[in-house]
Amino acid sequence: GGQAMWGGRFSAKPADLMQAINVSIGFDRRLAAQDLAGSRAHAAMLAATGIISSADEGEIQRGLGLIEAEMAGGSFPYRDEFEDIHMNVEARLRELIGPAAGRLHTARSRNDQVALDFRLWVRDACDRTAAQIEALQKALLARAEQHADTLMPGFTHLQSAQPVTFGHHLMAYVEMFGRDAGRFRDARKRMNESPLGAAALAGSSFPIDRQATAQALGFDGPTHNSLDSVAARDFALEALAAAAICAVHLSRLAEEIVLWMTPQFGFIRLTDAFTTGSSIMPQKKNPDAAELTRAKAGRVLGALTSLMVVMKGLPMTYSKDMQEDKVPTFEAFDSLELGVLAMTGMIGDLEPRADRMAAAAGAGFATATDLADWLVRTLDIPFRDAHHLTGAAVKRAEQLGVDLAELSLAEMQALDPRITESVYSVLTPAASAASRTSYGGTAPTEVRRQIARWKEILQ
Ligand code: ARG
Repeated sequence: GGQAMWGGRFSAKPADLMQAINVSIGFDRRLAAQDLAGSRAHAAMLAATGIISSADEGEIQRGLGLIEAEMAGGSFPYRDEFEDIHMNVEARLRELIGPAAGRLHTARSRNDQVALDFRLWVRDACDRTAAQIEALQKALLARAEQHADTLMPGFTHLQSAQPVTFGHHLMAYVEMFGRDAGRFRDARKRMNESPLGAAALAGSSFPIDRQATAQALGFDGPTHNSLDSVAARDFALEALAAAAICAVHLSRLAEEIVLWMTPQFGFIRLTDAFTTGSSIMPQKKNPDAAELTRAKAGRVLGALTSLMVVMKGLPMTYSKDMQEDKVPTFEAFDSLELGVLAMTGMIGDLEPRADRMAAAAGAGFATATDLADWLVRTLDIPFRDAHHLTGAAVKRAEQLGVDLAELSLAEMQALDPRITESVYSVLTPAASAASRTSYGGTAPTEVRRQIARWKEILQ
């Protein structure tokens, strides 16, 4: 039973509670593919360096192949008494091929083994997530292209600020998600060194070839300090930090979808594909996918906090605390993946209500800045004074219950007698947006340039 690996030193079985708190196979079986890949590379290296015979290596590789097939076919026996994925594989290997199995763990410890497996898993997760984020960016780009001219209110403080276009708004998220994908790529680059061969903590007295195993597993090279190799989990922390930031971006967009879906905003419709109904209120169509995407940020942020706290007090090198690195990391990436995919679906699914957005774009005196700019440009009034005059115009319009563009020329001229008819040309939301041609601005021409730039990057 459970004493197989270290039975020499032990004479009694562990308490049931010891097994209950210690067992990790229930979750670290997700490292099975990485564990097999690591063992295959290690065995090949042991044979190539003459540390084990090539006959033994052949048996080990054959056995690992059988295990892989059992796992694929669903017949591999995952057993709690063997604690974790590493010892489950080794125990099964012994059952399948006999004594040669005992040579696989030469010059290796579970400490470098788990550090390797987990690093490989996080590396894959970073690659997968970056690709999924790029798919989301492409979905946003496609919608932005359709709506480069669709007016909507731009907000600060969630108060009407200046008219923008829906395409411009979506492109803001393309920028954020672009940095998110970049953070996963950066983290991957930094983590891409192999800890295999650090053994328990001090390295090995066998003539192992760490370069060879690193290369076989797609690493840039081996890690450079054996203690660091088994003690470090900052590769996971960095990936979780990238995940947390990305989850926050998803949550902000999800929050906007929830707002836009309200009858009060009424900026978008979602089809039945990404909404649910109510069991009591027949009129309801709720944006549950957006709400859950918003909520999943809680799990991802929790995972980052969780692993930070696990790591913060650990002396060199490995402590069993580190077994608690996996559950939060798996959960974070599972949640993030669902959020990214659901958001990609919603972005493709949503139907903007351009009429409602355009109406709202002009409300709330959103072109007040345009009036002030006109006074500066046309009458050479200093901006601060123009700001003051425009404030008075807004106040007057509010008193009369009209929009800025609806103030009569007489009312305008009461502010400054030099104001002419031409002022009205800048007071429509479309003119306002079209005038913002500065680099990165909301003018449709600029939005199209942004879209072209990202198409180039993402192709
Ligand atoms: N299941 C362990 C983990 O996930 C593997 C490493 C165990 N090493 C040890 N010295 N107990 O961290």
